[in-house]
Amino acid sequence: MDFPALEDLAKRARRRVPHFVWEYLDSATGDQSAHLRNGAALDRVLLQPGVLGGEQTVDLSTTFLGRSYAAPIGVAPVGMSGLMWPGAEIILAKLCAQERLPYNLSTVTAATPEDLAPHIGEHGWFQLYPPGDPDIRRDLLKRARDAGFHTMVLTADVAVASRRERQRRAQLRQPMKITPSIMLQAALRPHWSLSILRNGMPKLATLARYGDIDTPRIGTAHVGYLLRTAPDWDYLKALRDEWESPLIIKGVLDPEPAPQIIDAGVDAIWVSNHGGRQFAAAPSGIAALHAMRAAVGPDFPLIYDGAIRSGTDVLRALAVGADFVMLGRAWHHGVAAFGAAGAAQVLHILCEGMKADMGQMAIDRPAQARGRLIEAT
Ligand SMILES: Cc1cc2nc3c(=O)[nH]c(=O)nc-3n(C[C@H](O)[C@H](O)[C@H](O)COP(=O)(O)O)c2cc1C
Repeated sequence: MDFPALEDLAKRARRRVPHFVWEYLDSATGDQSAHLRNGAALDRVLLQPGVLGGEQTVDLSTTFLGRSYAAPIGVAPVGMSGLMWPGAEIILAKLCAQERLPYNLSTVTAATPEDLAPHIGEHGWFQLYPPGDPDIRRDLLKRARDAGFHTMVLTADVAVASRRERQRRAQLRQPMKITPSIMLQAALRPHWSLSILRNGMPKLATLARYGDIDTPRIGTAHVGYLLRTAPDWDYLKALRDEWESPLIIKGVLDPEPAPQIIDAGVDAIWVSNHGGRQFAAAPSGIAALHAMRAAVGPDFPLIYDGAIRSGTDVLRALAVGADFVMLGRAWHHGVAAFGAAGAAQVLHILCEGMKADMGQMAIDRPAQARGRLIEAT
């Protein structure tokens, strides 16, 4: 495929989806600076090339939380994934099952855990926006477990809704309301529109049984926000008691509470500023990862996400202290650009890029990148 970099797929995706969809996928909050900071901080991470390393047999496979994956990369939870391209959730879940990578289904997607059950195989993680009602929480956990999802991810950085001004300007509503402006935007993207017509307008399908998903609300006040609460330590404890397999907490930037999180029985911390979508003044994911690794010691499992644009960036994050790296927007650029083939191209670009750079560094396993860090900030 003649699209050698992730940015090439992003450009094509932008030409194929309506403006309001692009604004939803691409935007951060406020002045966008937290997202830009993620990329800028990655650029500053320098890695030491190796010399006279001899022939390398590069192996990307990685064990994480007791499971083996083909590479230390996966699909981060993206709400309304199916709005970017109809069927995106199933396309990405199938890719992950086939290629042995984790697929993290969001609470607020157009596909339910039950929809994904036939496709996800051994590779499902479920992301929880914490419902305030414990009965709803227990029901969601049961549904995830019954559908075969083995790893639970509690998102902790959406205690309140953020402003996301670009989305408001684009008049993004949940569920979609067909206004003349939306119709015009959709008419300019006929391929996307026909796919939506064939598949139906994506909705917050998982939440349908808990509340009204059909009343249009502007901005962020959709049913997902109405159901969720701001979790506290008691909430974490209750969740830990109710979920017996691996539990990850996502959206932690501050290293200070890390020991208490570990004591609470959490299996991994996911260092993320939510793609810059929650708090414009948040530190970059890389700065936070650096501090988090220092706080938790060399062995506690850490995940990184934010502005990964290449295999080089994956290695940068691993070098700074991540054990695993997740991506949100990039997979959706691939799917919107070329469907399943585009998602596969994202994976190809990341893996080939990692292999090439590992050759430069004279290492044969991704985790060895940590020993090649020259500068992190
Ligand atoms: C369109 C969009 C929707 C998202 N929805 C969720 C979500 O439902 N739950 C969640 O925990 N994170 C969500 N995130 C954050 C991602 O999981 C991830 O932290 C972020 O996208 C990583 O940055 P990247 O997109 O630059 O790779 C979303 C991100 C985007 C771009």
